[in-house]
Amino acid sequence: MALLEVSGATKLYGQLRALDGVDLSVEVGTFHGLIGPNGSGKSTLLKSIAGAHFPTTGAIRFDGADITQLPPYQRARSGLSLKFQITAVLAELSVYDNVLLALQSLEGNWSLLFSRSRKRLDADVMHALERFRLADRADNLAGELSHGEQQWLEIAMALAPRPKLLLLDEPTGGMSPEERRVTGELLAPIRSECALVIVEHDLDFFKNICDRLTVLD
Ligand SMILES: Nc1ncnc2c1ncn2[C@@H]1O[C@H](COP(=O)(O)OP(=O)(O)O)[C@@H](O)[C@H]1O
Ligand SMILES: [Mg+2]
Repeated sequence: MALLEVSGATKLYGQLRALDGVDLSVEVGTFHGLIGPNGSGKSTLLKSIAGAHFPTTGAIRFDGADITQLPPYQRARSGLSLKFQITAVLAELSVYDNVLLALQSLEGNWSLLFSRSRKRLDADVMHALERFRLADRADNLAGELSHGEQQWLEIAMALAPRPKLLLLDEPTGGMSPEERRVTGELLAPIRSECALVIVEHDLDFFKNICDRLTVLD
């Protein structure tokens, strides 16, 4: 059974048909590439899967359940994580606190009220930073990181809550060829933990890390 099954997804923005009958099936443990020209609906598809908006018609099943009508926070709690195309780290917080917040988003209100989670989550925060080569930047403000490092921080934040499926929208946008190569290297080991849907423009990048490719036109 597929981990994610999108069937017949259509999205209308007023008169504009951004998605038209899209099917997508993602198996457990696979890296799935998503490619297509600008405006073909890649970001719209990822947002529909994560619940940032609802498809106009169609159905989305995730991990055995129909999630088509679920709000985004419930999708997140069921194991879906999205990194948007636009970088969205909290520039005025430390690198460390950005990841801590991503983890605390899954905690209950009482735990947050009494700040009990900071110490308990320390090992998880450091693990997330280490795997994306950011451990020695933990005390820097996120806004001081280079663009490429900010992208890695965001991937670390998306991955920290241990999702079953990670959705990455152009994580290598604006990166140098070397940063792009390293991104592929950093993503490879997550295969044993979660499936991935990734939007990219570089076919060589896909060839190196993806098992399957879906083209939107
Ligand atoms: N919030 C929105 N409101 C209206 N039109 C939108 C919105 N988001 C995207 N679109 C339009 O939908 C189409 C698909 O956009 P998008 O999903 O961002 O494509 P891609 O990520 O493949 O470049 C484009 O024509 C875009 O202008
Ligand atoms: Mg896009």
